[in-house]
Amino acid sequence: MKSIVILISGRGSNMEAIVRACAAEGWPARIAAVISNRPGAAGLAFAASHGIPTAVVDHKAFSGPQAREAFDAELQRVIDGFAPDLLVLAGFMRILTPGFTAHYADRMLNIHPSLLPSFTGLHTHARALEMGCKFVGATVHFVTAELDHGAIVAQAVAPVQAGDDEDSLSARVLKLEHRMYPAAVRWFVQGQLAIEGGLVRQTAGESQAFS
Ligand code: GRF
Repeated sequence: MKSIVILISGRGSNMEAIVRACAAEGWPARIAAVISNRPGAAGLAFAASHGIPTAVVDHKAFSGPQAREAFDAELQRVIDGFAPDLLVLAGFMRILTPGFTAHYADRMLNIHPSLLPSFTGLHTHARALEMGCKFVGATVHFVTAELDHGAIVAQAVAPVQAGDDEDSLSARVLKLEHRMYPAAVRWFVQGQLAIEGGLVRQTAGESQAFS
């Protein structure tokens, strides 16, 4: 039985999709905790109502030149109290220090709302619209020290239609995220992801492309 800890900052709809899939599909895993850096994150209530332990490590409680390191150290301490096999970032809006990413190397996943390596960073769908992109999407990847880099586990693609704006695109892509991210987490807990030469292969032959 693998233990999963999920980090959120807000709504937590991807976390919710993972929690529901874990229960409905009988994964060899349990959600050990949901942790937020924001006390008001809406997703915390969902987790608590499903009997999942929750915790808050408020980044605003850390200040000074070493604030980022101190926050990450405290976050790591709280996470490791739940002894996770896998750490899942689901809308977790903090830049992580290299020490933190090294500690969870090859056992930390993130979902980013673009077709990486295009559009790292924020406001991905708005930037894709400005560039006249005809497709947008999302990527699940292993987390490394470099923001929104790391080996790609799965990608989802959606068409851009006339009249689309940032909100309509993000809603369209989010539906795909809710299928893709649970699948990627399930692959990890089933031991079906192999990292070979920096590339990730689904060893049971399931498609890593979603649309
Ligand atoms: C998603 O679009 C995800 O790709 C991005 O942040 C959003 C999180 O949404 N990283 P939610 O909190 O899972 O509902």
